[in-house]
Amino acid sequence: MTDSTIFSRGFAGEKLACVFSGIQPSGGLHLGNYLGAVRHWVSLQDCSERRFYCLVDCHAITVSQSSLRDQTLSMAAALLACGIDAESSVLFVQSSNPHHTELGWILSCVARMGWLQRMTQFKEKAGKDREQASVGLYVYPVLMAADILLYGTTHVPVGDDQKQHLELTRDIAQRFNHGCGKEIFSVPTPFIVASGARVMSLRDGSVKMSKSGSSAMGRLDLTDGLDEIALKVRKAKTDSTVLPSEEAGLEGRLEAKNLVGIYAALREVEVSEALRDVGGMSFSKFKDVLVDVLGEVMVPKGEEMRRLRADEGYLMEVLKKGGEHARALSEGRMERVRRAMEFLEVD
Ligand code: TYM
Repeated sequence: MTDSTIFSRGFAGEKLACVFSGIQPSGGLHLGNYLGAVRHWVSLQDCSERRFYCLVDCHAITVSQSSLRDQTLSMAAALLACGIDAESSVLFVQSSNPHHTELGWILSCVARMGWLQRMTQFKEKAGKDREQASVGLYVYPVLMAADILLYGTTHVPVGDDQKQHLELTRDIAQRFNHGCGKEIFSVPTPFIVASGARVMSLRDGSVKMSKSGSSAMGRLDLTDGLDEIALKVRKAKTDSTVLPSEEAGLEGRLEAKNLVGIYAALREVEVSEALRDVGGMSFSKFKDVLVDVLGEVMVPKGEEMRRLRADEGYLMEVLKKGGEHARALSEGRMERVRRAMEFLEVD
């Protein structure tokens, strides 16, 4: 991707105009979500003009969900606990702004079958039984493009796994603009910070940590207390060699590389710098150090999340205001799209 903004550590530049990102309320918030995306959503609050953070429930239903309402409220509480400020950022539920699905349909007539057929995440999620996957799962990246393009987004903070979907979003925006001869959509740039961009399962360093895919023992959830964190980290897969002092020594050691990467991202330092602290340690010693850092960063957020989750009235108020705000702010662009499509205005 030519315009990709991949930072090695964090952002230090001019203010970004409009930031949009989303998370599926299809389970709890895990360490991969936090390190790959949500911590950047929080830090970008200080260096962007406008921000939209969306609980993408319409994406979540592309696979069956058992308690979507509860999960949506829990994810809202998790985001607030991590530091999303609902006063200065728009925090909202996707289904509360119908412009997302309206634009999603229009863009599905712009996107080409060949473009969607290349999407690797569909292949991974649908697995072998592709015939049984929902049509929604297949067209999901088009809805994601609609989410982003509705608000004039310039930057999208995400983990590495969303890069291909953002390339598609850029292609759709360009094709639409070209087709109607107007710059209706901004062409967004992915905002990916290399450190923490792909957190792997604690049980298998070749598989991404995910809400559904990896086992609960392979995943660190925001709701985990210190005892659970310690148990999962102590049982994490490792190899039999001590940690190296140089980054090159992590090559081919997937699990070691993942654990050191997590440590570095939590401490907000480069892997080479992290290895200056922990190089030469045995895994049992390093795991104690890692548990301490995880405890410091994650446990207070988990406690705050539980406190907020208990206050459903407050969460509903935040999400209602966010939904109204999002809808009002996307109406102008949606009207321009309808006009560009030459839909007959009947009222
Ligand atoms: P989702 O819900 O799977 O994940 C939310 C965010 O967390 C990041 N992430 C990870 N980062 C590092 N390591 C991991 N193991 C890891 N797992 C998840 C994801 O990259 C993502 O940034 N399609 C999106 C949701 C979405 C969206 C959007 C995102 C819908 N519309 C518009 C941005 C803009 C998804 O399924 O994320």
